[in-house]
Amino acid sequence: MAKKLSIERILHNQGFGSRKLCRILIINEEVTVNGELCDDPDAAFDTDKLSYTIKGEPWVYHEKSYLMLHKPGNYECSHKTQHHPTIYSLLPHPLVERGVQCIGRLDEDTTGLILISDDGQFIHKMSSPKWKVPKIYEVTCKHPVSDEQIAHILKGVQLIDEDAPIAALSCEKISDHVIHMTLAEGKYHQVKRMVAAISNRVEGLKRIQIGQLKLPDDLKVGEWRWLSEEDLLKLKPQENQATA
Ligand code: URA
Repeated sequence: MAKKLSIERILHNQGFGSRKLCRILIINEEVTVNGELCDDPDAAFDTDKLSYTIKGEPWVYHEKSYLMLHKPGNYECSHKTQHHPTIYSLLPHPLVERGVQCIGRLDEDTTGLILISDDGQFIHKMSSPKWKVPKIYEVTCKHPVSDEQIAHILKGVQLIDEDAPIAALSCEKISDHVIHMTLAEGKYHQVKRMVAAISNRVEGLKRIQIGQLKLPDDLKVGEWRWLSEEDLLKLKPQENQATA
């Protein structure tokens, strides 16, 4: 929603540090707004479609952050990592300052599409088991995948600690060793455990789609981008899928 706010407050809200620090940036003539130098911290601007630069770097105002990242392998989806760098180190510092969180974690060796936001309600909704957004994984298996194994995954496999068998929504053979598996849930190590349950083993795992949102071909490994309105619509469950 469009709001009129002082540039000092805007920069603070957008993650550029304390009010005092933002004030100094502005007074030091490091900030332009909508193409013009702005050295008055109290100057008010309409936030709708506001563009600004800080030390020459261009930004667009976003009330909330909704991002996609092409996660590389050997990165951890945590702010406090144990063995590898954090995925948050791939984002500009102001976004991290805004408190963004990834929506569901990928294992450190899994690559592909991950969503990141600072909108608590959105994160909650997208993570809720009731909001059944299917996720598609490209799975490279150690052994050739047989038709029986695919049938087993589609019928449902019993995982330790689960009450009932879990089935993939779809499972398509792409080549001898590669399948595309669509899951409705996001349980711990789910793909790896399901593939182990059919006596095979995951050698490579990449998430290629969430809902109708595909990992874009031109989003390179380690790159991120803002989600567009159109992208956000693609994350809504299809008719009859969400139960709340
Ligand atoms: N399933 C897994 O086993 N690992 C992931 O990272 C995602 C889904």
